[in-house]
Amino acid sequence: MRSDQNELITRIGPGTPCGAVLRHYWQPLALVDEFNPALDPGMLHRPLKAVRLLGQDLVLFKDAQGAWGLLDRDCPHRGADLSFGRHEGDGLRCPFHGWKFDVKGACLDTPAEPAGSKLHERVRQRGYPVLERSGVLFAWLGDEGTVPPPFPQFDCFAAPSSHTFAFKGLWQANWLQAFEVGIDPAHPSFLHRFLNDEPLDEIGRNAGGKQFRSASAGNFGGERWPMTRIMREFHQPEISFENTPWGMQLTALRPMTDALTHVRVTQAIFPHTFVIPLSETLTITQMHMPVDDTHTYWYSIFTSFDGPVDKEAMRAQRLKYIALPDYIPKSGRHNRWGFDPEEQRTQTFLGMGEDDINVHDQWAVESMGAIQDRTREHLGTSDKVVMANRRMLLKAIESVQAGGNAPGVADPALAPRMIGPDTVDGIAPAGAWPTWWKEQVRAKRESAPWAGTAAPVVSA
Ligand code: FES
Ligand SMILES: [Fe+2]
Repeated sequence: MRSDQNELITRIGPGTPCGAVLRHYWQPLALVDEFNPALDPGMLHRPLKAVRLLGQDLVLFKDAQGAWGLLDRDCPHRGADLSFGRHEGDGLRCPFHGWKFDVKGACLDTPAEPAGSKLHERVRQRGYPVLERSGVLFAWLGDEGTVPPPFPQFDCFAAPSSHTFAFKGLWQANWLQAFEVGIDPAHPSFLHRFLNDEPLDEIGRNAGGKQFRSASAGNFGGERWPMTRIMREFHQPEISFENTPWGMQLTALRPMTDALTHVRVTQAIFPHTFVIPLSETLTITQMHMPVDDTHTYWYSIFTSFDGPVDKEAMRAQRLKYIALPDYIPKSGRHNRWGFDPEEQRTQTFLGMGEDDINVHDQWAVESMGAIQDRTREHLGTSDKVVMANRRMLLKAIESVQAGGNAPGVADPALAPRMIGPDTVDGIAPAGAWPTWWKEQVRAKRESAPWAGTAAPVVSA
């Protein structure tokens, strides 16, 4: 890839062509948990956070009525930082000269001006729409005067709160390389390889923390296999993808015998979300929020198609590795991501721990450098999904630059088809895997307490 193309597909600040594409999509902005006084006591009296999204500095706050406000952070008077403002319940007051703004950005007061001044009627701070879904706040940073697309009705948003859990973490690198790790069907066989297996009955409901330790659906000669064993023993997946209304459906086939094939179907939702199965009844939907060109928050929504999730346990498990209030991983470049050569020799392919596989992906994303230099890479057959995604992104940039639509969930005409999307990880009869996995998905939906059965497996 040429260096100018690499710049084009990675830079997302205001005024950039790729930034213009991303501003057509709802973006994750914060966890609702970040405003929970039990997790951050400061939120009790001052529910407000400085946030940065797509290279823009913003202030996010909740007023006394529970309405969310997301405003540009520079005060429209003389530019002081509104995230230091006084939270007055019905609005936010700049500490420099006391100008006050409500959640929509209307100026309510300019107290240093002479009595009777009408200045506040002519002043407005730019505000952005905010939506709350499944424990995540989403923002829309599209051009002023344009209308946000309908919010997609994917499973992770359709499931009740009792069946979802949201969490996040910061990676010190560009958003696109974070997404390109997530949609790469070849990497779990290596990056996440465990050299030994744990007994499956010890995994059980702990699947939320032990990714790839859970059993694949189906069985191998009457025996259940953990995903990680299949990934390890069959490490040359046949990768294919097909276009979907939201992006791409990815299929990785691992032929095990003449009669059995392991099939893993995952989903790429343009521009930066993937959906993968974590166990037979749990999925992760992971979004990659570009903070700026060199920082990315991943947001994951865990969705259960079985019983309710134990949010407290899932949070506690993750807080061992990620520090509040800004969700900064405790491992990183500063401590070589916790690398242990002895572990690499005896336990894992990577050597960065067995319990938190998120740090494996973090290392892959961050060790490339803040913005991967794609002029130096050598792509192979197993990178075909990464290549297809870059083509889709380049096409979207071209389209938006020409005044056209952004694809996928940004296209209101496609909104009714933004349901599902389905995933599977299982051992299938070799010739019949295409019908087998659809049957698995149908059974999963039918037994879920909340999911409808109407979602199509795929329809391009
Ligand atoms: S800079 Fe904010 S009130 Fe003056
Ligand atoms: Fe991974």
